[in-house]
Amino acid sequence: MENFNYYNPVKILFGKGKIYELAGEIPENARILITFGKGSIKKNGIYNQVKEVLEDFTTFEFGGIEANPTYETCLEGLGIIKDNKIDFLLAVGGGSVLDATKFMAASANFSGEDSWEILSKEAVVESAVPLGAILTLPATGSEMNGNSVITRQKTMEKLAFSSSEVMPQFSILDPEYTFSLPQRQVVNGIVDAFVHVIEQYLTYPVNSPVQDRMAEGILLTLIEEGRKAMEAEMPDYSNRANLMWAATMGLNGLISVGVKQDWTTHIIGHELTAFHGLDHAVTLAIVLPGVLYQKKSERKIKLLQFGERVWGIKEGSDEVKLNKTIQETEAFFRELGIQTKLSEHNIGNKTIERIMNRFKDRGIEKIGMQQDIELEEVRYILEIQL
Ligand code: NZQ
Ligand code: ZN
Repeated sequence: MENFNYYNPVKILFGKGKIYELAGEIPENARILITFGKGSIKKNGIYNQVKEVLEDFTTFEFGGIEANPTYETCLEGLGIIKDNKIDFLLAVGGGSVLDATKFMAASANFSGEDSWEILSKEAVVESAVPLGAILTLPATGSEMNGNSVITRQKTMEKLAFSSSEVMPQFSILDPEYTFSLPQRQVVNGIVDAFVHVIEQYLTYPVNSPVQDRMAEGILLTLIEEGRKAMEAEMPDYSNRANLMWAATMGLNGLISVGVKQDWTTHIIGHELTAFHGLDHAVTLAIVLPGVLYQKKSERKIKLLQFGERVWGIKEGSDEVKLNKTIQETEAFFRELGIQTKLSEHNIGNKTIERIMNRFKDRGIEKIGMQQDIELEEVRYILEIQL
């Protein structure tokens, strides 16, 4: 195992009715900006609950944050923060609302000229407006990490930054808040969380049985509970609770300590969203099988372990087992109703060329945290999934 430091200060309030503890988590006299998306919280009643619990506080609102949140929208929110001397941000929504709120929190205290540099030039986030979160869509892990992914409409770029300064002070996770999710978003959440775990687990062995078994436990939970969620006629509390906690555990940093991470699938997937607006999880379901086929010799040890422990694949030659493992993974995404081929989304070689050119323009020679994927391999990865 490699050396690591681990610190996660996010307080989690998990379970039914936890909203009633919200007021106790926010500093007295805070000037709060409640941020939210395109209106789901108004339809499912969460908005009213939040307003009721915060009736003794000074609150302002910023709604309309879109899925795959944009820099342009964040600038609008930033104006409200500055004009109203906001000193606490409360994000109520899915990963997009949380990510946008984190970026606004960092931008408000940014001393440089343009906070886009946090994303484009990795400008350091020295401080941020404190924030809390009420999660309504389990998927990204944004509720318990310092990551944020923002799209710039003008240039069609989707970039990520990470800073402990924007970790929420608390996150409320009430599984009942997910009951109003459309099936498509439930599935997206399962696939996103699944691929987060894979990106931190399916690389190279470093003798890390605790992290490996935790990762495998989350993957098995997502498969079992994911299938239950698909079959259920009505949302089931335990099922949603397990999915919610699995997604949080998938990207709160715990399973990545001391091991070799990758993130190639996400890096390439972000380009598919940037160019074609595909849902984040859909891009991952397309790209991951391509990455695994392309790297199956190099990542053989972990792939065989994953195949055996998660999919129960024990018979046949290594080559047979490796292929079966990747097929099972892709079949799971398809079973959830996600189309995993580029052609199924009317995407072809032209987009592959655009992605290659974009990486070349950025001066990228190798992709992923292990730097084991040459730029030209990105083309093969995508061609496998045409
Ligand atoms: O906008 P509203 O009306 O709220 O509707 C949203 C949106 O249309 C809806 N929704 C959310 N909760 C709901 C609900 N509808 C009914 N009932 C509820 N309870 O769902 C739609 C999608 O929401 P969004 O927040 O976009 O989804 P998700 O949580 O999957 O977030 C995706 C974004 O997170 C980024 C992605 O790139 C993408 O931009 N990621 C963030 C990460 C992080 N911060 O660590 C890591 C991830 O890898 C990912 O990149
Ligand atoms: Zn993701």
